Amino acid sequence: MSDRFSFALGATDGKARTGVISTPRGEIRTPAFMPVGTAATVKAMLPESVRATGADILLGNTYHLMLRPTAERIDRLGGLHRFMNWDRPILTDSGGFQVMSLAGLRKLTERGVTFKSHIDGSRHELTPERSMEIQRLLGSDIVMCFDECPALPADRTRIAESMRLSMRWAERSREAFGDRPGHALFGIQQGGLEEDLRAESAAALRGIGFDGYAVGGLAVGEGQAAMFGCLDFAPAQLPEDKPRYLMGVGKPDDIVGAVARGIDMMDCVLPSRSGRTGQVFTRHGVLNIKNARHQDDPRPLDEKCGCPACRNYSRAYLHHVFRSQEIISSMLLTWHNLYYCQELMQGMRDAIAAESFAAWQAAFHAARAEGDI
Ligand code: GUN
Ligand code: ZN
Repeated sequence: MSDRFSFALGATDGKARTGVISTPRGEIRTPAFMPVGTAATVKAMLPESVRATGADILLGNTYHLMLRPTAERIDRLGGLHRFMNWDRPILTDSGGFQVMSLAGLRKLTERGVTFKSHIDGSRHELTPERSMEIQRLLGSDIVMCFDECPALPADRTRIAESMRLSMRWAERSREAFGDRPGHALFGIQQGGLEEDLRAESAAALRGIGFDGYAVGGLAVGEGQAAMFGCLDFAPAQLPEDKPRYLMGVGKPDDIVGAVARGIDMMDCVLPSRSGRTGQVFTRHGVLNIKNARHQDDPRPLDEKCGCPACRNYSRAYLHHVFRSQEIISSMLLTWHNLYYCQELMQGMRDAIAAESFAAWQAAFHAARAEGDI
C-alpha cells in the first residue's frame, strides 16, 4: 500500500473521468460517493455494513466532533478511525460551513469565527489554525481548508468579499497544515455562481498549491439548473491532475450531472437521512415507503437491487416497520440508499471506462422518466 497520497487519472469520456486516489489507509475509486458520518457514525449503520455497500471513504465533521466528544478526547482514544472502528480513509470538513448553518450567535472576523454551540450554548472559536489542529487530532486523511460560504442568493460584493476571505484563510490553512506525508489538504473554491469570481478563487488556490480541490458554495439554495450552470465552467478552472470534490451534493440526478461535468468526489447526508424518513432511492426515482400503497405489496423495493433490504424483505414489511417506528426500518432503508448510491458510482465508473457514459446517462434518465411501477 502506498505511504503517500496520490491521484492517478484513469479513463475519460467527455468531461467525465475515472481515477484512483491512493492513501496509506487504502484506495478511493473515483468518481466516489462519500457517506456522511457526522458524529463518528453513519447513522443506523455498522462500519462494516457501510463498507459492504461499496464505500471507500467516509466524511466526518470538525464542527460536531470538536463540540462532542472533542478532538482532544478522540486523540487520547487513538484517533477517529479507531474510535469509530473505520480503518479506511476519512475526509473531514473544516467546520466553517457547519458553523454558518448550525451554530447560534456567530461572529465572523479576519481571524476566524466565534460561535455558540447548538448543543449547550457554550462559546467556541474556529480559525484556520484551530481547524487544522482539530483535523490533525482526529487523524483525518483528507483535511479541508477552513472557509466561509454565503447562502445564495447573495449580492456580488458579499460573495467576492467572502471568497477573498476564504482565500486568505486557505493560505493560513496551508501554512498551519505543514508537511504531513500520507495526509492530504484540499483547497475549496468559492465565488458563488460568477465565472470570474470562481476563476479568481481557482487562481488563488492553484498559487498556494493543494493535493486536491473542492468546489464549495453550491447546493446552498440556487437550484439544480444554476448549480449545473456553474459546474459547466468551475471544474475546468481547477487542476486537471488533482481530484475535484463537489461538497454537499447531492440527489442522485445531481451526482450524475456533476460527474458528467468533471467532478471526482461527492458527499451528501441525503441517502442516510432519507433512509430514516422513509424516502427510498430507486432506479425509477424516489419512493415513499410510508405510502399506503405499499402495505400489501410482496415485492422488494427494487427487483434489481442486491442489498439486504431488497433481497430479504418486502415493501409490505418495510412499510410496516417504518410505520411502527422500528429501528430496523432506518437500518434497512439506509443500507438500501447507500447501496443505491455506490452502485450508481460503479455504473458511472464502468460506463466512463467503456466510453459509453452518454448512453449510460440516457438510460439513467429514461428509467426515472418511467416512474415507479
Ligand atoms: N459543504 C457544502 N458546501 C461547503 C462549502 O462551501 N464549504 C465547506 N467547508 N463545506 C461545505
Ligand atoms: Zn436495495
